[in-house]
Amino acid sequence: MKKIKVMTVFGTRPEAIKMAPIVKLLHDNRDDFEAVTVVTGQHREMLDQVLALFNIQPDYDLDIMEPQQTLASVTNKILVELGKVLTVEKPDIVLVHGDTTTTFAASLASFYQQIAIGHVEAGLRTWDKYSPFPEEMNRQLTDRLTDIYFAPTSESKHNLLLENIDDTKIFITGNTAIDALKQTVGADIAPNTSDKRMILLTMHRRENQGTAMVNVLKTILAVMQDFEDLEVTVPVHPNPKVRSVMQALLGDNPRVHLIEPQDVASFHELMKASYFIMTDSGGVQEEAPFLKKPVLVLRDNTERPEGVEAGTLKLIGTEPEHVKDAMTTLLSNDFEYHKMAGAQNPYGDGDAAKRILASIQYYFDDDKHHARPEEFSVNGQQ
Ligand code: UD1
Ligand code: UDP
Repeated sequence: MKKIKVMTVFGTRPEAIKMAPIVKLLHDNRDDFEAVTVVTGQHREMLDQVLALFNIQPDYDLDIMEPQQTLASVTNKILVELGKVLTVEKPDIVLVHGDTTTTFAASLASFYQQIAIGHVEAGLRTWDKYSPFPEEMNRQLTDRLTDIYFAPTSESKHNLLLENIDDTKIFITGNTAIDALKQTVGADIAPNTSDKRMILLTMHRRENQGTAMVNVLKTILAVMQDFEDLEVTVPVHPNPKVRSVMQALLGDNPRVHLIEPQDVASFHELMKASYFIMTDSGGVQEEAPFLKKPVLVLRDNTERPEGVEAGTLKLIGTEPEHVKDAMTTLLSNDFEYHKMAGAQNPYGDGDAAKRILASIQYYFDDDKHHARPEEFSVNGQQ
């Protein structure tokens, strides 16, 4: 079988973290694959942190980020610039990840040149057009264009089947977030011996910018007055709309630590050191169950219901009363805390990248010398 030319395209921090295990494995399997790595640079500093940590040297960097960039400008630049790269490289397949504007625009650019598209982390859904915005439509539109689907869980496969996607094109792989996590922290979780309890907070979603964020931050400050052993650590997203509010509301409190975005290994260490996590991040929801950390999800819905069903994630929204109740319960009720902390990780076993490459070989093997790869299942994981 001739080598399969696989182009990976990614642009933001979470895509880079979850594509890194695939990029590495492609390079480790040069006999079977020719790898081309393209970054759009939708994020700059946060993307570069990931590239440095995982030692990835892109073949192409479209370097598109601008301060206060708009969805239209990001989409437009990627369509035009990636189009030029595709014309030169002519890959057999383009791999995109998740639900960002890079994901959708790269899929559209590939479709325009009739190049096969593989969607990593396919099938996540809230079924709510504007929540999260624009991610829900980015992933739905990407899945309309996709040829081969890497669904992380059986739930995400089920969502794709509901959209009449051909069963034979869907592979349940687990989430590559867990592959990356196993490279940064391993599985040993040391007990925390500090006499302080640290809450790790991240918040950046478009639908939370403004009033929702202000409400959550004020509520956290109020709860801190009831619990003197509480500290809050916040790696602040560089978006000026996030930064200005965080600085204005939290900047003066000596028990709140506003810090720069962390490289992912340091962030995983912070997750391990935390008592619990409050976040509207998608990736953090996937990582926390592996690290046995309860998460209060600052959103009204989630495309990651597996962690809610398992018990690690609790959807609390952003209303002050709900946020206060949920924090107080976790801080004062040991039984509730340990129930959340003890739940099983439903998201992956660390072998997602292997399954994705095996699925690509199976897909391109017209003579079917390759068997259909074994799928990820929660009960089958080590
Ligand atoms: C993007 C994704 C979102 C993902 C998030 C992860 C879209 C529409 N949104 O949102 O799905 O959850 O990334 O973090 O694709 N900035 C910097 N340096 C950086 C990164 C961002 O300065 O390294 C600033 C810039 O001013 C930029 C702004 O943040 O204009 C917003 O970045 P953008 O990628 O448009 O949106 P995110 O909110 O980061
Ligand atoms: N993360 C990181 N440094 C930080 C905060 C988060 O490396 O300071 C990692 C986190 O472990 C997860 C990913 O970034 O893997 C999540 O990215 P983000 O929250 O920006 O985006 P989302 O997952 O919501 O799309």
